[in-house]
Amino acid sequence: MAETGKRGAIILLGAPGAGKGTQGRKLSERLRLPAISTGDILREAVRTGTDLGKRVQEFLNSGGLVPDEVVNETVSLRLHQPDCARGFILDGFPRTVGQAEFLEREYAGEGLEFLAVGIGVSDRTLLRRLTGRLSCPDCGKVFHREANPSGKGDRCDACGAGLVVRRDDTPEVVQERLQIYHQSTRPLIEHYRRSGAYVEVDGEGSVEEICRQIAEVVTSRNQADAAG
Ligand code: AP5
Repeated sequence: MAETGKRGAIILLGAPGAGKGTQGRKLSERLRLPAISTGDILREAVRTGTDLGKRVQEFLNSGGLVPDEVVNETVSLRLHQPDCARGFILDGFPRTVGQAEFLEREYAGEGLEFLAVGIGVSDRTLLRRLTGRLSCPDCGKVFHREANPSGKGDRCDACGAGLVVRRDDTPEVVQERLQIYHQSTRPLIEHYRRSGAYVEVDGEGSVEEICRQIAEVVTSRNQADAAG
């Protein structure tokens, strides 16, 4: 992938609250690849009231999935930006087998390598992470009340904005998101496993420990590619 000069897509898979966004940002710094979060792109569109935002607002509030064609088009525009030329990290996309097939069609014949990394976390940990999450509505930085508090209390330590609880982190919407994950997103594991592109890491440890595991997986995949 990036280190071997090959263009790669690292796809972070996992239930809501597994830590995809947190790891996407860490890996982005470590591997110097852009981390693209469809959740962040869609929330920003809602916040700024764009046409896209108006189309997707209801889905985000209820925890439902935005229709494939809307997300596919949004992602496609983002992936064709120059910073994705060496590869990219995807957080929250693909989320259905249809989205995965779209991504494969988009890059057919371009030699892009896919590596799907599942972040495995128990339901108990997911609930603890989601109920303690605080997010910055301005710069998107994510905190946790206990595990990763802001150095500035209830304000973002990066930009100073007041931190908020995401609208979809209420207990009812979390249940809906978990159910949708099991129905629509878990089948992706089998999709990537079949093509030998799936690896799972233990997502119960510290942020640093999980990032180290993912970076090791990427490095060993690079070494295998270089040897073979
Ligand atoms: P999205 O934003 O992608 O939500 P999600 O998949 O439900 O994931 P989360 O953002 O809730 O969790 P995460 O895994 O990123 O965890 P995080 O790192 O924040 O999508 C939102 C909505 O947008 C969807 O419901 C849907 O409507 C729409 N959407 C998005 N993509 C779509 C698509 N492709 N198709 C259709 N619709 C789409 O961590 C959680 C908390 O835990 C944080 O507080 C963090 O600080 C803490 N934490 C993380 N790691 C650790 C650790 N190791 N130890 C302790 N605490 C930790």
